Amino acid sequence: METKHHFSNKIGFVLAAAGSAVGLGNLWRFPYLAAKYGGGTFLLVYIILAVTFGFALMITEIAIGRRTGKSALHAFGSLHKKSGFIGVLASIVPILILPYYCVIGGWVIKFMWIFLTGQGNAAVNNNYFGEFTSKTVEPVFWLFLFILFTLIVILLGVNKGIEKVSKILMPLLILLSLIITVFVVTSPGAWDGIVYYLKPNFSELTITAFLAAAGQMFYSMSLAMGIMITYGSYSSKKDDIESSVRNIEIFDTLVAILAGLMIVPAVFVFSGGDQEALSKGPTLMFVTLPKVFESMAGGQIIGAIFFVLVLFAALTSAISLMETVVSIIVDKFGTGRKKTAVGVGIYSVIMAIPSSLGFGIWSDISIGDKTILDIFDFISNSILMPIVAILTCVFVGYIIKPKTIIDEVESSTPRFKSKTLYVVVIKYIAPILLALIFLASILEVLGIIKF
Ligand code: PHE
Repeated sequence: METKHHFSNKIGFVLAAAGSAVGLGNLWRFPYLAAKYGGGTFLLVYIILAVTFGFALMITEIAIGRRTGKSALHAFGSLHKKSGFIGVLASIVPILILPYYCVIGGWVIKFMWIFLTGQGNAAVNNNYFGEFTSKTVEPVFWLFLFILFTLIVILLGVNKGIEKVSKILMPLLILLSLIITVFVVTSPGAWDGIVYYLKPNFSELTITAFLAAAGQMFYSMSLAMGIMITYGSYSSKKDDIESSVRNIEIFDTLVAILAGLMIVPAVFVFSGGDQEALSKGPTLMFVTLPKVFESMAGGQIIGAIFFVLVLFAALTSAISLMETVVSIIVDKFGTGRKKTAVGVGIYSVIMAIPSSLGFGIWSDISIGDKTILDIFDFISNSILMPIVAILTCVFVGYIIKPKTIIDEVESSTPRFKSKTLYVVVIKYIAPILLALIFLASILEVLGIIKF
């Protein structure tokens, strides 16, 4: 057995966990959802959900990890034998997500590269992105590079790799976000976009908006993927879990709100308020934004800074995914960390290739309009994650009892301040909300509702 790895202090742990939480979800999904579902009202609902629902789930995962010192695979079973299957389900999630997340990471490197080398204007052409992703070899080269960067950090270890990289990249990420935000909000015409983004509009506060906010928050805080269990297992027994979680939440929410402030007004100015231009996902980031940058004075530089920022966000999330998968395999097979990491790197490349080719020569392989990447995304995000999260709530609420988690929190701090809130959320509110999110994503797939 190798010795257990640890983050050196609370800041290291908080920044690594925030690195996981801040990802593409903050940058491309949050601004779109906020703009669509009533601006300021959505923000308010999101914040309330983050400090209650997200808070309780994140405390749970970190405490389970720290208490057991195990990866997601064995953590549940070591607290209650018969519940070991929850760990198995939780472990499948990062194993499925890691490869396809790296495909998108590769696209980000490509776009960063073209902007840094002054060719950003090429991306303005509507077909540029589609032509690039449908190529056979080039996207594989970029995803390989992305996986290589991720792997190097994992090989350097929890302390000298993950923690160190997070301590450098996360503050830089905030700085870059602020630079772009200031630039955008002071551009001519931005005011209308800011108003559009922030003005509360209570008529948009529908059940769909509420579920969209809850689903987004859950994904954005990297919950139900075993990640927070893994990072929790590396955290110090002395750290105050409650305040760590508050810090992670603030970091994640701040970046999401800033992302909206840079993207919504920029697109608004560019499109003259056409809401379609804010459509979510790859189209916003890789098709619309390059046009926005082209139309701005100094846009090429801002574009380059923006894609560096996106790369940092994607990289620290991929690192947390790869570390989680490595810890699961080391836990299961007792293999050496380094060898395992290289193996996981190779697995990621091999499994990422089909997702990448799904946009080109393998585009016939699809279910409905879902490409191979979308299928992996759907199984992990829309099916497995809500199930794992519901099971986790039931596990804590009714099997090991909230007291187990409360005791773990209170082992390092005199008082768990939001104890009552925690118990109510984990036993009653979270399972119900999660069941609704699950139902909503199924209805979305069946085409009955649309987010
Ligand atoms: N929390 C990430 C985000 O907001 C999501 C994520 C994290 C996805 C880690 C995969 C791995 O984008």
